[in-house]
Amino acid sequence: MCGIVAYIGNKPAQPLLLEGLKRLEYRGYDSAGIAAINGKGLQIIKAVGRVMNLEKELESIGGIEGSIGIAHTRWATHGIVNHANAHPHQDRDHGISLVHNGIIENYASLRTLLEEKGHQFHTETDTEVLGMLISHFYDLGAGMSLEKSVQAALREVRGAYAIAVICQQEPDVMVCARKGSPLLIGIGNGEYIVASDPSAIVAHATTAITLDDYSVARLTRDGFRTTTVDNVELTPKIMELEMELEEIELGDFPHYMLKEIYEQPEAIARCLKGRLDKNEGKVVLGGLMNFSKELVKSRRIILTAQGTALHSAMIGEYLLEDLAKIPAECEYASEFRYRNPIIEDRSVVIAVSQSGETADTLAALHESKDRGALSLGVINVVGSTIARETDTGVYLRVGPEIGVASTKAFTGQVAVLTMIALFMARRRMMSPEASARLMRELDRVPDMIQQVLETNDRIKEITAKYVHRENWLFLGRGYNYPTALEGALKLKEISYIHAEGMPAAEMKHGPIALIDEGMPVVFIANQGNQYEKVLSNIEEVRARGGHVIAVATEGDKQIESLAEDVLYIPQVEECLSPMVAVIPLQLLAYHAAVLRGHDVDKPRNLAKSVTVE
Ligand code: G6P
Repeated sequence: MCGIVAYIGNKPAQPLLLEGLKRLEYRGYDSAGIAAINGKGLQIIKAVGRVMNLEKELESIGGIEGSIGIAHTRWATHGIVNHANAHPHQDRDHGISLVHNGIIENYASLRTLLEEKGHQFHTETDTEVLGMLISHFYDLGAGMSLEKSVQAALREVRGAYAIAVICQQEPDVMVCARKGSPLLIGIGNGEYIVASDPSAIVAHATTAITLDDYSVARLTRDGFRTTTVDNVELTPKIMELEMELEEIELGDFPHYMLKEIYEQPEAIARCLKGRLDKNEGKVVLGGLMNFSKELVKSRRIILTAQGTALHSAMIGEYLLEDLAKIPAECEYASEFRYRNPIIEDRSVVIAVSQSGETADTLAALHESKDRGALSLGVINVVGSTIARETDTGVYLRVGPEIGVASTKAFTGQVAVLTMIALFMARRRMMSPEASARLMRELDRVPDMIQQVLETNDRIKEITAKYVHRENWLFLGRGYNYPTALEGALKLKEISYIHAEGMPAAEMKHGPIALIDEGMPVVFIANQGNQYEKVLSNIEEVRARGGHVIAVATEGDKQIESLAEDVLYIPQVEECLSPMVAVIPLQLLAYHAAVLRGHDVDKPRNLAKSVTVE
């Protein structure tokens, strides 16, 4: 969702900004733009659609010069997708231009106020209102510099923002600020590269300034300072950027999604590495050690997330109750946040998020912290907002996930939640032997994933048989009910095929009416507690002419007589099976999208990181 890149230094800004925009394409967007200050003043070029279109526009005018500039990919919220609404926006009095990620909630009242004072608006966006407000305060002669005007404007706004602002009258200054939306300032050699995430920075800097909410940074080629919106000077926070450039390059793969599916054996092995003490049957999670008493004594655990992360959180709920015997529940962060939730004493809230920036998950976290819960993050992106704002947490360590359809983050989240459940279980009533046995099995998961990946050709063949079908069902029970939800989500996200996931038993309560001749129904039917019951559900689908595709345990011959097609996975402990059973479903969705000719890594309307509620 909206990406910001900005540059101040001694090099030409345009190539750096375009390179950064391309790195941020995966976040999802519908228009792009760039502004720079040069001998001609402030120049802004924008284009609807892909960054490629912006590049063509730039080529047609011979490019724009200048070594200070801001750029943006816009994912429309306020106002349709068109040239005028694309960022950067500008005011016409002082040559102030800004890019913004987030939502200014009180933009309508601010706009009315500014209109009454004679300001004219040219777009439907909340961002233009913020720009105009900055311009309204701007008066260099009276000491209202760009920095001071940004501070003054931000004192008036409600909502979320990450911004980068430049001004023709102060051509050597850039001002950035954030509240709620992500922004990092990479420190180069006599230059700063500002971006929504590290992928646009790592090629040029190894360290970055992180901004807390309500802080403002003033950057010049000679240095920077950070302040609050009330102009109180802050001690800057600098972090090392751990991401390697190779991690965000495509390599030999045609799509990031496929690359990340194939990275899972290695990524999960890295996630588990050094965290399983099989001799003691104890999980070692640095972040949890100081909170182990509170965790072990907790009365209730609430898991909250959105999207794919919600599906792994649902599996977490099963794991915590099953293994650690602690009452647990899982809820959409967006619902949890606004329903006046009851947080009793000794409650723990676990926020699960790949990006660590999802606005709903962040809001749920704030709400539960305000109500006294201990908060824990299960996050992939190091230093992200949720990671910083939770009391403690566990990183996934699966490496950057660029594909919009989440894959390795899902298996990583389930692996971490399994370790958290074991951490608590072993400190409550699980025996060292039982715990060590599960750990040994968990350690085998990367190899099992690898075995499933080796059946990719077969998965592709089966997908091709059904790819023309417009409606699919995904059914599972117990631990694999959330896996069914995830299989359906993957398929609809990138292939735009309508798919529903549900508990296999629920099918009889309505959705069975949809089943007709040839409808593909995917069952997660690996051998576990509810295997026989799943077989009965398969019979019910067959009786109505549906085509059954089963994800089943290797060596299961019975299933072959019931299902049209079988996708085999290795024998695996039931509580660990979602990490293995999801792999054929990820590949199925991938092949379906490619066979239908869709751009897998840039699915329509989707954003990788949803930073608005
Ligand atoms: C978006 C993405 C999903 C992701 C969800 C939650 O919808 O497209 O892939 O699962 O956000 O994101 P998070 O970063 O919190 O895991």
